[in-house]
Amino acid sequence: MSRISLKHLRQMKVAQEKIAVLTAYDASFSYALEQAGVDILLVGDSLGMVIQGQESTVPVSVDDIIYHTANVIRGSDKLFVIADMPFMSYANPDQAIKNAARLMAEGGAQMVKLEGGAVIIETVKQLTARGIPVCGHLGLLPQSVHRLGGYIVQGRETAAAEELIADAISLQEAGADMLVLECVPATLGAVVSKQLDIPVIGIGAGSDCDGQVLVVYDMLGLTPGKRPRFSHDFLADTGSIQSAIASYVKSVKSGAFPNAEQQF
Ligand code: KIV
Ligand code: NA
Repeated sequence: MSRISLKHLRQMKVAQEKIAVLTAYDASFSYALEQAGVDILLVGDSLGMVIQGQESTVPVSVDDIIYHTANVIRGSDKLFVIADMPFMSYANPDQAIKNAARLMAEGGAQMVKLEGGAVIIETVKQLTARGIPVCGHLGLLPQSVHRLGGYIVQGRETAAAEELIADAISLQEAGADMLVLECVPATLGAVVSKQLDIPVIGIGAGSDCDGQVLVVYDMLGLTPGKRPRFSHDFLADTGSIQSAIASYVKSVKSGAFPNAEQQF
């Protein structure tokens, strides 16, 4: 096993070494991201939007994620690769086990990521009990965008923040080994990262998370329309894709990204 291990990532949290994560969907980017010193690649269901041109992540299938995960795996030798479980591919524990096993066995992923809190706790227990590493995802849940009514900051009210903290603790207790926290106030990102033993990777969740993740096309300024506030065009700063990625890694590791304007 030559890829970065969960043990190593947990040690990075203990050592307060920031974890640099980006999404990847193909072998060429996977190779470039590894060369630039990224720690983890996420084969996000954001591929529905940035690769397929869909309006949300809802139409993405398990086969889509397997195809892109296998491509990403072939592009890198040592990075830890997480694959997203798509919308409704984990509606009950049995279905989740079957689909997670495919993402690992056919795609080659080391970990699967599921969105949600209380409703998925039993599923997370069953996956981890069977040796499938799980990353949780709380805050803004893009698979629930039609219910949320848009991509808006979550956990602003006290009750919502308390519920999110309780969900994060439940996920860790259920066996999750990592957590992605999306679009929440920086103060909440800090509290959750401090309370949990597992690494907390933020996207729009403030600079006190244990690591940061962005959609790679967002941080290269390629995504059409208004760039999210928590993102930054590293390509405009640097002039090449390789140096843009290296600059992102450096900024995450030093704590320079995200700055005060790039959080809520
Ligand atoms: O799909 C994705 O890219 C994600 C990240 C934005 C966390 O889930
Ligand atoms: Na996702």
